[in-house]
Amino acid sequence: MTQKPEVRICSPIAVAPMMDWTDRHCRVFHRLLAPHACLFTEMVVAQAVIHGDRQQLLGFDASEHPLALQLGGSDPGLLAAAARIVEEFGYDQVNLNVGCPSSRVQSGRFGACLMAEPVLVAECYRAMAEAITIPVTIKTRIGIDDHDDYEFLREFVSTLADAGCPTFYVHARKAILQGLSPKQNRDVPPLRYDIALRLKREFPELEIVLNGGLRTVADVRRHLADFDGVMIGREAYNNPYVLALIENDLFDTPLPARDNVVASYLPYVKRQLRDGVRLHSMTRHIQGLYAGEPGARYWRRTLSEGGADRSAGVEVIERAHAARLAAAA
Ligand SMILES: Cc1cc2nc3c(=O)[nH]c(=O)nc-3n(C[C@H](O)[C@H](O)[C@H](O)COP(=O)(O)O)c2cc1C
Repeated sequence: MTQKPEVRICSPIAVAPMMDWTDRHCRVFHRLLAPHACLFTEMVVAQAVIHGDRQQLLGFDASEHPLALQLGGSDPGLLAAAARIVEEFGYDQVNLNVGCPSSRVQSGRFGACLMAEPVLVAECYRAMAEAITIPVTIKTRIGIDDHDDYEFLREFVSTLADAGCPTFYVHARKAILQGLSPKQNRDVPPLRYDIALRLKREFPELEIVLNGGLRTVADVRRHLADFDGVMIGREAYNNPYVLALIENDLFDTPLPARDNVVASYLPYVKRQLRDGVRLHSMTRHIQGLYAGEPGARYWRRTLSEGGADRSAGVEVIERAHAARLAAAA
């Protein structure tokens, strides 16, 4: 693609925050496929950042930049204190979660239910933005429950924009707060790109990054014509090679062979093994690398079975390669 959108915050392409998936090992792997993407952590609750094991919660590898940490919370003071710690750790962006519909998150009064409290979210934004110098951004849905008309989203975004927030990651479906699991909430409410687009048209000065259901290079191309960026979640995890294809299309980055991506990941895996990390913590993220290729099932299965052994080493990855190649022959 010759014409690249100007994005002030980060990158026209982002990999979404995904609990239990986009941990540091996953992000190091994704970085090998997408050198220019902005990578997001899993959501971390502000209280945990302040009181928890910071190295465990916030530690990352230098290769992960540009890197955004997603915070969960709704107390401006706590969020500001957490944001300060996040900035000191060296992150490039702090993102506030206004999209998660889980009941656990709702009982803590944060996540998607905050869409009903734009003034409080604006206070949270201001407190964080005043506390740190790196950008603060918001990840939101397009509505919640019966508040699913454009005016509701417009009111939410304009309140935040008035507070100074320039960038919104918009998961283009509403969240249903009662009766649907978080997983169902990622599939059941229909995608409404038209609503996200209306927002971009009405607020051209804001950066609007589209999220939800994007799977292919063609999807990315199409939506970058309208939006400042795109954020990819499940497809990036289940079929990570799509990141390399997108990267190649947007930035002319040479397409790496899948085997070379694994070879580039190995030194990191070996270092982590030496530090006592289990092989499975890393190999679980690379199981989708050969998705759609001959022998993919054998790659996945060998990694999954071999990684279960606590003492497993990188020989499991060699076995997975051999199993894949034998099945493909
Ligand atoms: C396993 C999983 C965990 C997720 N965890 C988070 C999270 O911590 N914070 C968040 O804002 N969104 C979370 N999401 C939602 C994604 O960031 C994204 O908005 C959603 O999956 C839609 O994008 P997609 O269709 O490209 O997957 C999660 C999604 C998945 C699949």
